[in-house]
Amino acid sequence: FKLDELIQVIRRAMNQQRLERENIRLKEVMNLYELSEAVNQSLNLENVLRVIADTAIKELGADQVSILLEQPEEFETRLTEQFVYPDTDDSIQDGFGSIDQDQLLKRLENKPYFIVPGAQARKFFKKLPERRSLACLLSVPLRIKEQIVGTVNVYSYRQNYRFSEGQAKLLVILADRAAQAIENARLYQNLRRTFRETIEGLVSALEAKDKYTSGHSRRVTEYALLLARALKLKPEEQEKIEWAGLLHDIGKIGIRLESLNKPGKITKQEHEMFKDHTTMGKQIIEQIHFLSEIVPLVYHHHENYDGTGYPAGLKADHIPLGARILAIADAYDAMTSDRPYRKALEQKDAIKELRRCAGMQFDPQLVEVFCRELELNQKEVVQKKKEWDGISYPPPEF
Ligand SMILES: [Fe+2]
Repeated sequence: FKLDELIQVIRRAMNQQRLERENIRLKEVMNLYELSEAVNQSLNLENVLRVIADTAIKELGADQVSILLEQPEEFETRLTEQFVYPDTDDSIQDGFGSIDQDQLLKRLENKPYFIVPGAQARKFFKKLPERRSLACLLSVPLRIKEQIVGTVNVYSYRQNYRFSEGQAKLLVILADRAAQAIENARLYQNLRRTFRETIEGLVSALEAKDKYTSGHSRRVTEYALLLARALKLKPEEQEKIEWAGLLHDIGKIGIRLESLNKPGKITKQEHEMFKDHTTMGKQIIEQIHFLSEIVPLVYHHHENYDGTGYPAGLKADHIPLGARILAIADAYDAMTSDRPYRKALEQKDAIKELRRCAGMQFDPQLVEVFCRELELNQKEVVQKKKEWDGISYPPPEF
């Protein structure tokens, strides 16, 4: 046995240990980095909260996480919402208890975090969790611009498993990043809402010029969504259809509608002018970056399945799916609304007409799904139509 060899063995072992230690540290840093990235990239509040909760469960070995979040001040009454993770039915049935936010906030006023063993956690609850006994509670505040807007609360239900100071510090960093992300998500939500209100106001102003089309865009949107849901389209596809439904006739903004609503037939020249609204719509929406993906839906909503439509004369599957959906919704609403030269058709007659035109004007498969949905939800649709008829969008607030 040589001394050299022994030294080598010890050195290797120490190296190994150092590497492992560094690996663990690196892993922690990486986790935190990944989390920061995920949180920063998401503008959806629910996603942000979920990432925070998942990380706390994984990194801190928590059994449950609750996030208390105050609603922004713009709501008249300040409400606090509680999000619980993992959000299985079990956690709800388990009687998650009701945490006392006032007590928590009082305790967190001048502290970055606090850890209490289960026995002392009682005063932080209005009602304790029912089935399991709490072994440890760790709470950290969520601060936006120096103000506490909520708390992240981490629970251990395992006897002898308590959170360490190190874990608490990790959660503080986490909550800090989370608060920034929550603020971003809220600002983004606000921006979207204002944008939507502006667009709805614009559409409502356009339709108010003409009593025959009043509420048309809203109804087309609802019918198109009925079909989109029946087709189980992805939420982001449904959202595109919603925007496109709202804006499909926006190109009429540049067209004088009086001549189109006179009794009797419109002239060929007037019809050509009317057809321009698809191109006009495209030109208007192209200017709005956020809506670039719905341009083809608006542009092609008057294409016919057999290629006889306008503006491009596209056929069958060459017409974007959303545009084929809108064409059916648009025609159905036109048929079931009064016109200067005729009364509205009954639902069953409009359905007959859609089926008659399947394969020519409309995608036959989509017509079938749509008609089936209408028949299945007949009462509801008739009821809702009354609502949509009466509704005009409130003007945007600035
Ligand atoms: Fe149109």
